Amino acid sequence: MKAIVVTDKTAGIAGMKLMEWPEPQASINDVVVQIYASGFVSTEMEWPSTWVDRRGQNRTLSIPGHELAGVVTALGYGTTGLSVGQRVFGLADWHRDGTLAEYVAIEARNLAPLPGDVDFTVGASLPISGLAAWQGLFQHGRVQAGQSILAHGAAGAVGAMVTQLAREAGAYVIGTGRAADRQTALDFGAQEFIDLEHDTLEDIGGVDLVFDVIGGDIGKRSARLIRAGGTLVSLVGLPEVRPDNGLAIDFVVEADRTQLNEIVQRVREGRLRTNIGTVSNLDNAVAVFNSTERHKGKTIIRAL
Ligand SMILES: NC(=O)c1ccc[n+]([C@@H]2O[C@H](COP(=O)([O-])OP(=O)(O)OC[C@H]3O[C@@H](n4cnc5c(N)ncnc54)[C@H](OP(=O)(O)O)[C@@H]3O)[C@@H](O)[C@H]2O)c1
Repeated sequence: MKAIVVTDKTAGIAGMKLMEWPEPQASINDVVVQIYASGFVSTEMEWPSTWVDRRGQNRTLSIPGHELAGVVTALGYGTTGLSVGQRVFGLADWHRDGTLAEYVAIEARNLAPLPGDVDFTVGASLPISGLAAWQGLFQHGRVQAGQSILAHGAAGAVGAMVTQLAREAGAYVIGTGRAADRQTALDFGAQEFIDLEHDTLEDIGGVDLVFDVIGGDIGKRSARLIRAGGTLVSLVGLPEVRPDNGLAIDFVVEADRTQLNEIVQRVREGRLRTNIGTVSNLDNAVAVFNSTERHKGKTIIRAL
């Protein structure tokens, strides 16, 4: 099969190659999925799991990409809940070969059925951003109606989901980003927008929850804006500053079939809009990832 592989940590994206690769076999509880579309997050090159297995042993050459939509082609021993020919979408294991390929072996529990009226490109754009927003807001952030939320990177893949889900939950959303992101963030439902390059973040006053996808100095300054008892949820590591009497949570998104069902149902009903930027194919993926152009929203690679 065709697959994109990463070869060298120091080279990062520049070291990616399109290669012929053996088709994966289904292990116990796995299914093999023929991939129609895969998402890609450029920061994967910095994740330790891209380079090592669970024991910390080097696993290069490895296939990156961790979200997919496709069709089940084989079932491993003991696998229940899915069948051959079923449309699925989901989140691949961080420490195994991923989804920038024509096939992937993946644990069945990491997948949910993809309804027939949801395109594979849309399906592949939902798992990481959708689950990260869902888990950050509802599991870790325990968002409540009437709370105010600072949603960083609100025009980005995760931030757009955070903004929409928080609004649906009855929160007041202040989105952030670059000057050019203002209208996109407002279109996704942010009630205010802070241009981090020109506005003063501190002017927003206090908020109940910060959803951080940027980190660094922005993360530190944002943590100081959280009211006593509030929550900082981060996908990019925690700053030293923590909310008084509140919680600071840094997490890595997990596969969850029930949550994937909730997310895709909202997409079908028009209550949630995914934020797809560039769509390309396996043959052109390496060039797309290496281009210096700014990619807005989620990059999707079609394998079929
Ligand atoms: N822990 C986890 O499980 C998990 C899960 C998902 C994502 N993440 C991480 O979360 C981060 C966001 O992911 P994503 O897919 O949403 O990325 P994305 O689509 O690139 O969105 C990030 C948005 O924030 C903006 N931004 C970043 N730095 C900024 C700054 N200093 N000032 C103003 N705007 C800024 C970006 O603009 P530009 O494109 O112009 O920089 C972009 O619009 C990534 O670091 C990713 O690795 C972690």
